[in-house]
Amino acid sequence: MLILDGKIASAAVKADLLLQTQALKAAGKRTPHLAAILVGSNGASETYVASKVKNCEETGFESSLYRFDVNVDESILLQQIEALNKDPKVDGILVQLPLPKHISESKVIEAIHPAKDVDGFHPVNVGRLVQGLNTFIPATPYGIILMLEYFNIETKGKNAVVIGRSNIVGRPMSILLSSNIPQGNCTVTICHSHTKNLKEICAGADIIVAALGVPNFLTGDMIKPGAVIIDVGITRVEDATAKKGFRIKGDVNYEEAILKASAVTPVPGGVGLMTIAGLLKNTMKAYIGL
Ligand code: GUN
Repeated sequence: MLILDGKIASAAVKADLLLQTQALKAAGKRTPHLAAILVGSNGASETYVASKVKNCEETGFESSLYRFDVNVDESILLQQIEALNKDPKVDGILVQLPLPKHISESKVIEAIHPAKDVDGFHPVNVGRLVQGLNTFIPATPYGIILMLEYFNIETKGKNAVVIGRSNIVGRPMSILLSSNIPQGNCTVTICHSHTKNLKEICAGADIIVAALGVPNFLTGDMIKPGAVIIDVGITRVEDATAKKGFRIKGDVNYEEAILKASAVTPVPGGVGLMTIAGLLKNTMKAYIGL
């Protein structure tokens, strides 16, 4: 059984990016610059954004964080995005999701210039992804592809099941796995809350990507012997014995999965770290130009 260690795979991606930024610095050029926008103070969002900023520093990127009160007007946010769109020293713009209910996520996403949309959420970039054109791949699916590549996981002709159809993970993941790329060419089934026979569908899969946000959802009886299991879940579950009062739980019952699967991503230390690697690669891509 192979543990798909995100620490190892993301370190390789980051080391490569660091070499590139060092070369830019040596040539007297500026380095890639990521601008992150955070609205409110949701604990998980705070952690993710802090980690994104820290990882920028570690790879020699510039970063700036724009924080807004939870009650901020949508128009103020749109103005900030417009200023960043126009700033030639900013390569990538990221608005951490979810946003408060009074702000339209789609309006905000569509306000980001597609050439700076390092999350790959803009409809123009999603369209490019669907058509197999060069684009920004959303960071989590991109990170999973980088992980499969790093560990030489064969995907061609395999039956892949993606559980979850979000714009951030499930849907782009299903498109990538079915597309004609080295880590694609799978026959993909996308499952969601209305799927019937989910257990049977999973039990027939060679690769499962669990991205539904329900801790311990995927149990051993849903896993075919030798399957590859990718766990995207990162739910905070209250636990008074933990230092922070909660533990991070994946969508996969890890103890059961390791008894059946040929490879499993741990949580934490798996896909989460690869998401950051995907975002950093997209920021370098934005700097160079699509
Ligand atoms: N919230 C959860 N995942 C993501 C992500 O990949 N990007 C952004 N901007 N927000 C998120």
